Amino acid sequence: MSYIEIPAYAKINLSLDVVRKREDGYHELKMIMQTVSLHDTICLEKTREAGIHLECSDRSLPADSTNTAWRAAELMFERYGLAGGLRVRIIKRIPVAAGLAGGSTDAAAVLKGINELYDLGLDIGELKRLGLRIGADVPFCIEGGTRLAEGIGEILTPLPDFSGVDVVIVRPDIAISTPQVFSRFDMSQVTEQDRPDTGQLIGALAKRDIKEASRHMKNVLELVTMRWHDTVSLAKGRMEKAGAEASLMSGSGPSVFGLFADQEKALEAYTMLSAYPQWECWIAKTV
Ligand code: C5P
Repeated sequence: MSYIEIPAYAKINLSLDVVRKREDGYHELKMIMQTVSLHDTICLEKTREAGIHLECSDRSLPADSTNTAWRAAELMFERYGLAGGLRVRIIKRIPVAAGLAGGSTDAAAVLKGINELYDLGLDIGELKRLGLRIGADVPFCIEGGTRLAEGIGEILTPLPDFSGVDVVIVRPDIAISTPQVFSRFDMSQVTEQDRPDTGQLIGALAKRDIKEASRHMKNVLELVTMRWHDTVSLAKGRMEKAGAEASLMSGSGPSVFGLFADQEKALEAYTMLSAYPQWECWIAKTV
């Protein structure tokens, strides 16, 4: 095999709680992560000449060693002494710096793709260990589905299937830097009301009861991002007005998603939210 194409799915956070700040600066989290059908496509092609060659449909992204996809390829080439070179092409659909793990999922897809393309036979545990060296969300992106994520995001517990739920995602017109959000996060400002009840949320999701789930869907990072950028709370308000059964900011933002009772309602909301030209909007399903 000399060529492979794989989808790299985005994620949303059905909840996000910060447990504590670690000595190394990272935060210990407790969150429910969910894969959605919005995806980039990663094309990998073996080349005779050595070296990694990266191309991205979004020209504003770096096509060098600062790109997570590049770092993933480099890690695999160095660790497994792979011969020749690799052409990586990213067809980008997931917005960048948006709280949807766009960079992490490209890295995850490159790791998985190289494993197949070069017949390395690595198991998912090994791929996740490698992925963690690139970013905290990469192990989840390798596994996908509905997961409770703990530690810095790498300790994953499978939850009951929550696929096939209609989702609308809106990305207000700002880019958010995750390190900046975490550096502004102040644990002493968080009240019990701001925190998700993760146990109750897991129960509601298992019953696929979105209304009940919405009562427990909280993201403590909203405290930082929404106070910083009004447009994010505006997006959440409009998502609710557009008929979402539940809505929340994903990750450190600024993307806000809504869960809908059915596809028709999701389409109506998508049409309403697409009317704001400065915001990008997608319709998707949980995977
Ligand atoms: O691991 P990743 O590169 O995705 O994380 C980006 C930044 O987000 C980290 O450098 C850190 O500042 C912050 N972060 C954190 N705690 C986490 C995950 C990320 O503080 N669990």
